Amino acid sequence: MDSQTTPSTVDAQGASRPWTVPATITTYFDMDYAIDAPDLRRLYENAKRDQWNASKDIAWDVAPSPDGRIIADELIDIYGSPLWDGLAEKDKIDLNRRIAAWRLGVLMYGEQGALLACSQMVDLVQGTDHKFFQATQVMDEARHNEVLKRYIAERLDDISYPMPKNEVELFESILGESRWYLKTIALQLVAETFAVALFKMMAESAKDPVLGEVCRKILLDESRHMGFGMLSLPDVVKNATAKEREELEDYTCFALEKTLTGFFPLEPYRDLGFSRAQIEDVVRYRRETAAKNDYAPFRKHFKREMHGAMVQNLARLGLLTERVRPRLAAIGVSLPA
Ligand SMILES: [Fe+2]
Ligand SMILES: [Fe+2]
Repeated sequence: MDSQTTPSTVDAQGASRPWTVPATITTYFDMDYAIDAPDLRRLYENAKRDQWNASKDIAWDVAPSPDGRIIADELIDIYGSPLWDGLAEKDKIDLNRRIAAWRLGVLMYGEQGALLACSQMVDLVQGTDHKFFQATQVMDEARHNEVLKRYIAERLDDISYPMPKNEVELFESILGESRWYLKTIALQLVAETFAVALFKMMAESAKDPVLGEVCRKILLDESRHMGFGMLSLPDVVKNATAKEREELEDYTCFALEKTLTGFFPLEPYRDLGFSRAQIEDVVRYRRETAAKNDYAPFRKHFKREMHGAMVQNLARLGLLTERVRPRLAAIGVSLPA
């Protein structure tokens, strides 16, 4: 099986290296400092009030779980299968830690992507309240990037996996896009709705108490970020021409497809010594479980909550149109009749 990682992020020795995204950004130097979006000003005030510090506000020295598990075993796709049952206890723990590192790595790369996208948006948006809010999100995402890297380094022996191809493609698009509202659709509307549900599930099911605390701290900031999308996008959708509206819908679907499909933690299984045939079994078991929705209760809850929030937000923004619905259904999002 081919790696799903784009070669551009990894050199021949397997080390990650910077990748570049060409972008054309128009900077609006805005000298009208009047409050023109009071709801965004309120989010900005909340952001200043609610800053937390990963260096001081996380109890990093709390003891880990006695057996070294990080997440609930139920978050591992093969949990409950013959493949899982055949593993020795030490390999179950090793897989638990590697899958946790893989998932947290994906989230950490997303934090950096969000940091970079929001720094572009500081330039691109017009109006003081939009700019001030985006400035707070830049700081928030820097702290999220920082705290997840520290977590992986201190609690997970710095196990690092490359950025998955789908995620690279999503951020290549977001960062290369010159219109702020398309970045917001992909980032604050789609990717952050997904991330919030995932952080909540991890917070509730974490075996390492420090992971639970890290996730809860990140969640304090994320509702503001989603709030930016829900407050700033309605005007864009309302004022769009028919052709522009189609572009908004298509970009929404693109972001959803990249965010919700195609993520498979191949490298942890490889590291554990799974053969090619065994990895194919993992993929098959995963597909069958998804088709039957045969998950542990909290994974079912995650899926329901994430799909529900996504559908509700799209509907509120007027983006859940007849063009969008079949594309959502095709990637397994359950829709209200
Ligand atoms: Fe974040
Ligand atoms: Fe965020």
